[in-house]
This record gives sequence, C-alpha cells and structure tokens, in this order.
Amino acid sequence: MRTQPRIVVVGSFMMDLMSRTPRLPVPGETVMGGPFQMGPGGKGSNQAVAAARLGADVSMVVSLGRDYFGDVAYNNLVQEGVDVGCVKRVDNVSTGAALIMVDEKKGENMIVVAPGSNNELGPEDVDRAKGLILGSHCMLVQLEIPLSTVEYAIGLAHDNNVGVILNPAPGRPLPDELFQKVDVLTPNESEASAITGQPVVDVNTAGRAARELLARGCRNVVITLGAAGALAANGDGVHLVSGFNVKTVDTTGAGDAFNGALAVALAEGQSLLDAVRFANAAGALCVTKVGTAPAMPSRREVQELLAR
Ligand code: RIB
Repeated sequence: MRTQPRIVVVGSFMMDLMSRTPRLPVPGETVMGGPFQMGPGGKGSNQAVAAARLGADVSMVVSLGRDYFGDVAYNNLVQEGVDVGCVKRVDNVSTGAALIMVDEKKGENMIVVAPGSNNELGPEDVDRAKGLILGSHCMLVQLEIPLSTVEYAIGLAHDNNVGVILNPAPGRPLPDELFQKVDVLTPNESEASAITGQPVVDVNTAGRAARELLARGCRNVVITLGAAGALAANGDGVHLVSGFNVKTVDTTGAGDAFNGALAVALAEGQSLLDAVRFANAAGALCVTKVGTAPAMPSRREVQELLAR
C-alpha cells in the first residue's frame, strides 16, 4: 500500500485576473480580449492544490491580506483539503494578484505578478511552521515570496533531512550556497536561462544547463520543456522523459501541476524518472483546461493518461 505523502508548500497565493486574446499585445498596444475570468492562483497555492488533488496530505505556509482575495484564497485551500493552520493574514496589505493574458490560439501566456501580501512572508513564519516542515516528506518552494524566506526555509528543511524541491519561478539568479541544499531543482527553459546566464532553448542547451546546475551542487535537476516533456539529470546521467500529446488550451499553471505531482510521486518513493513521467502527465492534463488551480488534474485523470 502507498503511504500517504506529507508535503508542505512554503509559497505564494495570487488572485488570477485573466483574459484570453486572439494574440498577445506588443508594448504600447491595446488588444481586445475575451471574457474576464478570475480565480485562485499563485505558484505556491497552485502546487499545493495539485498535490492535494493527487492524494497527498498538504499544508501551506502563505501570507494573505485581510481582504476579499485573501478570503477566496483561504476558502479555496480549505475546499481543496489543504491544511491552513500556518496561513498568515496581514492587515493593510493587499493579497497578491496576477494579471494574465492567454493567446487563445497557442495557449501561451504573459503574466505580471503584484506580490502584495506574499512579500510579508518572513523567516519567523517559517519558524512557526517548523513542526510541520520537520514532519513532512518533502517541502516545495517557489520564488514568488522574498528570497530571504526561501533561503531560510530551505536551510531549515535541509538541516533536518526534509527533501527540498525548489521550483525557481519566476526565474532569477540565485546564490551559490542554495544549490547544495536543494534535492530537486525544477526550472523551465527561461528560468534555467535566468539562473545560468546561458540561453536554454532546446534539449541540447537544457542538457548543458542541467550539468552546470548539478556542478553547482543540486542533487537532481529537472528542466521542463513544455510539450516535449522534461530533462531529468543527476549523478546517473541526463535523460529526456517525453511529454504527452494533448490539445493545448491554456498553458498557465502547467508548471505548477508538474511540480505538485513531482513532489507527490517522489514522496511516495517513485524513482526520479517515474516521478517525472507522472509529473509530465499532470502538466499535460493541466494545459487542456482553462485557468490555474481549477485546472489541476485528479489522480484518476493522471493514471488514465499514464495508462493510455
Ligand atoms: O504558474 C502560474 C501562476 O503564476 C499563476 O496562477 C499566477 O498567479 C502566477 O503566479
């Protein structure tokens, strides 16, 4: 019997404000979009929802404003069965929001994040969640909260033998000391490029970036390549794990579905390559639906796609 994975997410919530458009605008241009849609998002919260829907016992450490968006975030986590014991509410700061445009033909997006209350998540909040973190199989972290908080949380988990998955999104250069404390680093191509300073545009350049990130100290590197799948690299070598052929409607949140699923599979004891295949299936299912948190797949959907 599978043991139920316990996962803690230290990360963000954003209210996603989205419109689909025939094409993305260029600077200075206004384009007419489709209907306005609003829903729960943010990389941390999306990944928590993804992991919960796949059967994990999930807790979230997040900072929300005391406003309508914050209430939506809180209620959504409760509804998804995510533990909210370490959710912080802050006064006089707006809950984070994301302005999202989606190209309705290609499914590609452009996102601007206004972090708001996410900037108020500090090391003291991580300390308050120490018991939770130490009792988890794995901690998932992204970069929509202050880097000092990310570093502190990763240091705490690493020192206490809790597995760390760092999804370095949005991409940015990172301090060298961090890499040695990360069990799995999961950039997409543009994030791998932002971290290494080298262009990452295909499997070959991703392989080069993965080897550099391993040399900097990460134990495992998984670079997501969109529809092509993901490149998984560690001391055993570099392997391309193919993606699934699906009809793309909206790519927003695919990386979050991937990371939530990867955490679940690894916490269940799956090998890295099996876990990446499981995560590829979750990411593929996410792009077939509009939205972010609502587009996270169920365990049954993932298993059906894997069996196809
Ligand atoms: O990864 C997708 C997410 O990025 C969106 O939900 C948006 O909130 C941004 O954080």
